[in-house]
Amino acid sequence: MSTEKTERITTTRLGADGPEVGVQGLGCMGMSFAYGPTDADEARATLERALELGVTFYDTADMYGFGENEKFIAPFVKAHRDEVVVATKFGIVMDPDDPLKRGIRNDAPYIRQCVEGSLKRLGVETIDLYYMHRRDVNVPIEETVGAMAELVAEGKVRQLGLSEVTGDELRAAHAVHPIAAVQSEWSVFSRDVERTAVPAAKELGVTFVPYSPLGRGFLTGAFTDAGKELSEDDFRRTMPRFTGENAAANAALLEPLRAIAQARGVSLGQVALAWVQQRASVHGLPVVPIPGTRRRGRVEENTAATRIELTADEQAALEPIADRVAGGRYADMNFTSAGRE
Ligand SMILES: NC(=O)c1ccc[n+]([C@@H]2O[C@H](COP(=O)([O-])OP(=O)(O)OC[C@H]3O[C@@H](n4cnc5c(N)ncnc54)[C@H](OP(=O)(O)O)[C@@H]3O)[C@@H](O)[C@H]2O)c1
Repeated sequence: MSTEKTERITTTRLGADGPEVGVQGLGCMGMSFAYGPTDADEARATLERALELGVTFYDTADMYGFGENEKFIAPFVKAHRDEVVVATKFGIVMDPDDPLKRGIRNDAPYIRQCVEGSLKRLGVETIDLYYMHRRDVNVPIEETVGAMAELVAEGKVRQLGLSEVTGDELRAAHAVHPIAAVQSEWSVFSRDVERTAVPAAKELGVTFVPYSPLGRGFLTGAFTDAGKELSEDDFRRTMPRFTGENAAANAALLEPLRAIAQARGVSLGQVALAWVQQRASVHGLPVVPIPGTRRRGRVEENTAATRIELTADEQAALEPIADRVAGGRYADMNFTSAGRE
């Protein structure tokens, strides 16, 4: 049982005609994939605690643990079907013999195959928000979104989303079928989306879903020597910002965050989450960040951050950080929208 009092977060609309969701969602990926060992009971309790706190938007993908993450959240979704909005994704193909080897597929037959798998694993009749996870540049985006739109017409999917798209790709997609949400990395450390994707989303009335708003945990101050601190099976070992000299250099960049956190008596992660929310309001854009956690105490901490408003001076102190970060946000930036801008 949590001792923290339950103060529900406020809500915002997901896409122009979409449902109201809590202003912060929950990233479920780490519950089954990528970030080392998980306590399944605590992760299940985290899903429930999040809902009590007003978090109604839950994020997964078919590739998180080869479908295991969708299966993991399915009982929770079933128990609360009318209260929660579930987002999943297709498009990244992992090699079962080497999960670090990844391909991308966006063709219509593949999408059809994927949606059936996700519906089954999630145990739902309709996926609330279905994202293209990554863009395959060999398939016209109009063809991909056309295939996704058929799923809406058939009632298999309610709303469409895109992950890691450029502003132009978003415009082209939106002309085929309304896009409710763009999900891309956006944090104090990762601001490339502010160049084209964010302005296009604002122009089209698309909600932005910042993923990894805590810089995959880095912005909480958890890492000083990531190479030693991460478990052997942690995906972040392959990420340039977490490795070698980059990790130490990036840890030093957290000082302004630490100063604000200390002065306010909050955590570094809370400052980072407040920053994303506020940066979006500067752009005039609705956002639903999806910090990922597997622990109840952290979901309490993260949702409380939605009530923090940074001053202009605090925002100015955080402004230069992104340009100084050592290492790209992925080893292969072709895997991101920035790689195509
Ligand atoms: N579309 C895409 O390509 C894409 C890519 C990556 C992620 N995502 C989605 O976005 C979600 C969030 O991103 P993310 O998980 O990569 O990164 P994140 O939210 O930036 O950070 C998650 C990490 O921070 C830790 N953490 C969370 N809250 C904390 C707190 N209050 N204090 C200290 N540590 C805390 C988590 O550990 P614990 O779990 O142990 O608390 C985890 O290691 C994912 O779950 C996934 O659904 C999408």
